[in-house]
Amino acid sequence: NQLQKITVLNDRSEKLVGLLHDTGSKDVVIVCHGFAGGKEHKLVVDLCVALEREGISAYRFDFSGNGYVVIDNLVRESDGTWAYGNYMKEAEDICAVVKHLNGANRTVSAIVGHSKGGNVVLLYASKYHDIHTVVNLSGRYDLKA
Ligand SMILES: *[C@@H]1O[C@H](CO)[C@@H](O)[C@H](O)[C@H]1NC(C)=O
Ligand SMILES: *[C@@H]1O[C@H](CO)[C@@H](O)[C@H](O)[C@H]1NC(C)=O
Repeated sequence: NQLQKITVLNDRSEKLVGLLHDTGSKDVVIVCHGFAGGKEHKLVVDLCVALEREGISAYRFDFSGNGYVVIDNLVRESDGTWAYGNYMKEAEDICAVVKHLNGANRTVSAIVGHSKGGNVVLLYASKYHDIHTVVNLSGRYDLKA
């Protein structure tokens, strides 16, 4: 198994940086971080490692304008500016990642989102109908405000 850095361009030509936990499986699960999170968020990393242990490749990435503080260094690898909402833009980021992985002869079998990422994967699924399994983990539930 290996951890491979994969950079994807979104439809605004912003660079999205992510890591593929590659088990060699054709199927890949995309794991999406939540509000002000990133691919290094513990829950995101743990989920990818758990999938990897089951022999399933998993990809975690930073949405544009997002990225986590990694050990004292403020590392924001993906391009773009951070904003409070950006739900639709993040759904488009997933779209770019799905296209990239499909182009690399992979099959995105599931998308999983945590917290705000849960809402983003649902939004993605409401617009595109190409992913078999969509998982909303502790998504936001009251968006009236
Ligand atoms: C794509 O994957 C299939 C099944 O894993 C394999 O048979 C095929 O050769 C691959 N095609 C390319 C272009 O890598
Ligand atoms: C997403 O998860 C949250 C929290 O578990 C839940 O309240 C919400 O209803 C879920 N959304 C959908 C569309 O199932």
